[in-house]
Amino acid sequence: MEKRANFTSKLGIVLASAGSAVGLGNVWRFPTEVGANGGAAFILMYIACVVLLGLPLMVSEFVIGRHTHKNTADAYRQLAPKSGWVFQGYLGVFTSWFILCYYSVVSGWTLKYLLASLSGEVTSTPDSAACFVSFTSSPWAPLVFMVLVLLMCHWVIRRGVQEGIERYSKLMMPLLLLIIAVLVVCSFSMPGSREGLRFLLRPDFSKLTSSVVLSAMGQAFFSLSIAMGCLCTYASYFTDDARLMKTAGSVALIDTTVAVMSGFIIFPAVFSVADVAPDAGPGLVFITLPNVFQIAFGGVPWLGWLFAVMFYLLLLLAALTSMMSIHEPVTAFLLERFRLQRRTAASIVTLSCMAVGVLCSLSFGPLKDVTLLGMTFFDLFDFVSAKLFLPLGGIIIALFVGWKLPRALVQDEVTNRGTLHSPLFPVYLFLVRWVAPAAIGLIFLNELGLFR
Ligand code: TRP
Repeated sequence: MEKRANFTSKLGIVLASAGSAVGLGNVWRFPTEVGANGGAAFILMYIACVVLLGLPLMVSEFVIGRHTHKNTADAYRQLAPKSGWVFQGYLGVFTSWFILCYYSVVSGWTLKYLLASLSGEVTSTPDSAACFVSFTSSPWAPLVFMVLVLLMCHWVIRRGVQEGIERYSKLMMPLLLLIIAVLVVCSFSMPGSREGLRFLLRPDFSKLTSSVVLSAMGQAFFSLSIAMGCLCTYASYFTDDARLMKTAGSVALIDTTVAVMSGFIIFPAVFSVADVAPDAGPGLVFITLPNVFQIAFGGVPWLGWLFAVMFYLLLLLAALTSMMSIHEPVTAFLLERFRLQRRTAASIVTLSCMAVGVLCSLSFGPLKDVTLLGMTFFDLFDFVSAKLFLPLGGIIIALFVGWKLPRALVQDEVTNRGTLHSPLFPVYLFLVRWVAPAAIGLIFLNELGLFR
């Protein structure tokens, strides 16, 4: 057998994992949730969820992946042979594939909007809502863009762990962070931006209902890429000297910073344009922002153009690095279990996602009246994967690492076989054993509508 690949440096490890975490969830979903859930109080809850639930689960996935150096399905087979836990490995692989099918639809939109902003279309259309709807509901255009982003992702995955994932994460992530920094500064300099800052920084705790708390948890999971085998698969490429807790800390810090910065980019801009509401919903970045780009900067057209181009480039980069991390667990599984060549395995994943992605893409147009359980295909894929499988996976991982794996094995991984001093280990273990399963159980019941 060929030697299994690994990431070559600690920087590569952090940037690849952060690339997985930083995605549409940060730039698109987070501001939408903040707008819908009342601003600063939501952000505080979100941060609490990242620290108390997100971090321990991320370390747990790292433990499973790095200990076995196998793809997610085989990792559980090795750690708990012939037991029900093996199910979680397959669930991870399957959920990844399932998420990729609809994640690539929205990623395709970001490519379209990057091109449309380059050509000046975004900053010149009078009615950006109509423009968005006519694009997403047309049969061919969104499909073409979905296929294009999947091909871009395929191109990276085919090159393998070092030449593909690591190399491109090291290129794309610094660029992404740079763009964020520039955009934050631009956004702050807009007139009226102070009101946006107040919305983000002054918590109004009267808005903190239980459903806000639960949305914050759901968002933290999605944003950190937890519970689907992505991080576990990446961790199987970690070197033995990588520090799991430190890596998880860096990834969570980068992810949260990018999410909050995206809020800092979007809300000051939105508030500086008087008649746009902060809770504009999922259309925020595709409908509201184009309006902002047109009016902001005192109407100086090229500044608005530049801001738009940078913003959609940011969105596309974020989407692509996340797509890579959702593609890889499935590819790694096919490749190792069936001894396929990487090229073949990656092609199977890409082509099957394109085929099923068609359903999700068309559900904004020709298939919008075809519903299952009252949801279009797109909504169904989102609901089943992000709202059912993610919390389910999260609970299983917490129980598996907290209770099933021998404590010594977990401690060995976290402390790199006793060579690191980890005073936080008992805290970590407590969170994984008790806090995470209980809290996720609550999100889960909430998602199923039991608290409404
Ligand atoms: N975290 C990514 C985002 O913020 C999306 C993502 C990648 C993801 N891998 C995942 C979400 C695994 C849930 C589970 O957009």
